[in-house]
Amino acid sequence: MTAQLLLAIETSCDETAAAVVDETLAVRSSVVASQVDLHAAFGGVVPELASRAHVETITPVVTQALADAGVTGRELAGVAVTSGPGLVGALLVGIATAKALALGWGVPVVGVNHLEGHLASVYLADPDVPFPHVALLVSGGHCMLTRATAPGCYQLLGETVDDSIGEAYDKIARFLGLGYPGGPVLDRLAAGHEDSLAFPRPMLGEGYAFSFSGLKTAVVNQVRGDPAFSEVEVAASFVAACMDVLTAKLRRALEEFGDPALAIVGGVAASPILRQRAQVLADEFGTRLLIPPQAMATDNAAMIGVAGWHALATRGPSPGDFGPEPDLRLRFA
Ligand code: KG4
Ligand code: ZN
Repeated sequence: MTAQLLLAIETSCDETAAAVVDETLAVRSSVVASQVDLHAAFGGVVPELASRAHVETITPVVTQALADAGVTGRELAGVAVTSGPGLVGALLVGIATAKALALGWGVPVVGVNHLEGHLASVYLADPDVPFPHVALLVSGGHCMLTRATAPGCYQLLGETVDDSIGEAYDKIARFLGLGYPGGPVLDRLAAGHEDSLAFPRPMLGEGYAFSFSGLKTAVVNQVRGDPAFSEVEVAASFVAACMDVLTAKLRRALEEFGDPALAIVGGVAASPILRQRAQVLADEFGTRLLIPPQAMATDNAAMIGVAGWHALATRGPSPGDFGPEPDLRLRFA
């Protein structure tokens, strides 16, 4: 018997993405059209431009995903689509497309929480995911430490009280005139360089909550106070402070729970520096490290397909009138 296939669509921010994922969670195709060049001149995502670009790109991206997987719409078991959180106009393009396609093909459609998608991307690191595991979600919109107790069941350990870590990277990069997104460029500048500027490590000793806005201010003050500052030194010291905070919280969770696995997901998990620091920690604790491949850490539709299979199995299809939920939260156990 041939495996059942789900088309997944992701348009919550500045990536137009579609993927075909089968019921064993194998990714048959994954297409991501990035709008980075469109937004780079503005130093961040411009919502109206994002929506318009999704409208232009969604049909070719879906067509490509189906062609790469060698399937037609009528062979699918359903369509999964990100329903929130995200930019309302951007989400609307994906949802309207998913509903129209599902209606035409006579298959169910299921709305997926983008954060559940990121957390489900551990299956793209290794389909054999042990539970419970500690899961850190670090992206442009979110920074939270959770504990996954069963598939789709999360306990919140702590989250940021202000900026997300990706947001801090992006704001620092914009301030330094390094463009958007900030993560990859700061990470590249920092690689192999010393932490020489002694930036603060906010909330280092305080439970599982995070804060990045004080660190951001410290970087801005440092740069303003030293006209001869070195971009490399600033990047290396900023990234080192971020990494020290993340690894301190991860260490605390591994000590407290002794879980057999540690998952790191979201766009910042694409960072080679974070991946390396996390591997050292995981080795120290004898814990398995689960990080999706770089292209599946940043926004993509394959992760929405994986979470979509879980949503279909546990909640069933979404009602026909579901719409975008820009502030959708993750539900915790
Ligand atoms: O998950 P994602 O693609 O979108 C959201 O859901 O927010 O995450 C985007 C974030 C951006 O802030 C970007 O600067 C950051 O991930 N990022 C990185 C790297 N690649 C992307 N941060 C650090 N190092 C990277 N290599
Ligand atoms: Zn994301």
